[in-house]
Amino acid sequence: MDVLVINGPNLNTLGTREPEIYGNTTLAVIEASLVAQGAAAGLDVDTFQSNHEGAIVDRLHAARSDGTRFVIINPGAFTHTSIAIRDAFAAVEIPFCEVHISNVHAREEFRRHSYLSDLAVGVLTGFGVFGYTMAMSFAVERLTA
Ligand code: DQA
Repeated sequence: MDVLVINGPNLNTLGTREPEIYGNTTLAVIEASLVAQGAAAGLDVDTFQSNHEGAIVDRLHAARSDGTRFVIINPGAFTHTSIAIRDAFAAVEIPFCEVHISNVHAREEFRRHSYLSDLAVGVLTGFGVFGYTMAMSFAVERLTA
């Protein structure tokens, strides 16, 4: 596929998880919308969610040989903890965009640091689930230009 959308821990509970912060949209709806958005531009989109750090590392390794040209990732709490996911991105050398539904800079201090941001092409934070749409628009622009 062309674009891989990865969601990290607890994002499978979107829709019911802290709706005042993350809204009411489920991950299934977000993923279906991104697949349709990519397809409308002629891109194949795959989606992956895991609560396990190693599973995300494994999926990134697989992305190196499955045709993935761009990754959109909301790493969830692994954003702030995972050197392993950072190293996986450095290893596979696939460009990526980091997305956060909430504005991580307007929350607890520990959410301000990301192990991924300096490797990312860009970061979208605080735009709600529309951040995923914005990231896919960027991917379409980049991959079809
Ligand atoms: C999040 C922000 C993270 O700090 C948090 O751990 C999440 C979701 C967001 O989308 O706003 O799980 O990545």
